[in-house]
Amino acid sequence: MSRTVYVNGDYLPEAEAKVSVFDRGFLMADGVYEVTSVLGGKLIDFAGHAKRLARSLAELEIRNPHDEAEWLAIHREIVAKNDITDGMVYLQVTRGNPGDRDFAYPPADLAPTVVLFTQSKPGLAESPVAKTGWKVISVPDIRWGRRDIKTVQLLYPSMAKMMAKAAHVDDAWFVEDGFVTEGSSNNTYIVKGGKIVTRALSSDILHGITRAAVLRFAAEAQMEIEERNFSVEEAKTADEAFATSASAFVMPVVELDGAPIGNGKVGPVATRLREIYLDEVRKAAV
Ligand code: PDD
Repeated sequence: MSRTVYVNGDYLPEAEAKVSVFDRGFLMADGVYEVTSVLGGKLIDFAGHAKRLARSLAELEIRNPHDEAEWLAIHREIVAKNDITDGMVYLQVTRGNPGDRDFAYPPADLAPTVVLFTQSKPGLAESPVAKTGWKVISVPDIRWGRRDIKTVQLLYPSMAKMMAKAAHVDDAWFVEDGFVTEGSSNNTYIVKGGKIVTRALSSDILHGITRAAVLRFAAEAQMEIEERNFSVEEAKTADEAFATSASAFVMPVVELDGAPIGNGKVGPVATRLREIYLDEVRKAAV
């Protein structure tokens, strides 16, 4: 079935959804994106994604073409038009089409390009791999220095996914100066002696919307949290590990570079956090 795709105000059959070859998103990766999950036809953590989108755009001096209420209306419409029960909404905003190629930004009044499409994933929250956990490898983090901006420059994360595939594992964890920054498309955590350890927010990592929610729920459940760097060696001696993202929610990680983490099985902290997270965000979905 053909999807309905949103392009600059129009809802179009996917074959008719097009942007210019001069679009700065295409030529320069000059754009940002968000991925918001849909469960039971409703948007998960929408306000967080809308706020981070506004921040990413502001950091790049791209005009935000909509306020939060308008973004919500567009998200709801695309979910309804595509009859999505479980899945994702992908949103991308680029600096637009200046009509030619030039490194300098075009005038600030240029209309940004806005594209949204849906991906249907029935049973997204019941993913069987959450019961067995991910195996991951570590790879050097050679991305740029503003990873807090959610740009569409995803070539190295794609290469890292291919390295993971070649190693017959599920994901790659980025390592810089001996410490884990984050996963190829998720934030990363270890659990030691009941304490949850995750890297503190900075321009080294994306400020995950799922991360913020999970840490809030963990604190409410009286779990201890330490925001600091951890190394691959420390992760290998942890009791548990997990990753978070809008599409994976809380995903247990059971192996790193071929070594089992803890007993190599999905741990109780990750399991509990996944349950709490899914319960709470379903209640708050819009
Ligand atoms: N990725 N870190 C990176 C590098 C990411 O790409 C993502 C999200 C996250 C987690 O952020 P959030 O919890 O807000 O989804 C952390 C999305 C899901 C993607 O690229 O598909």
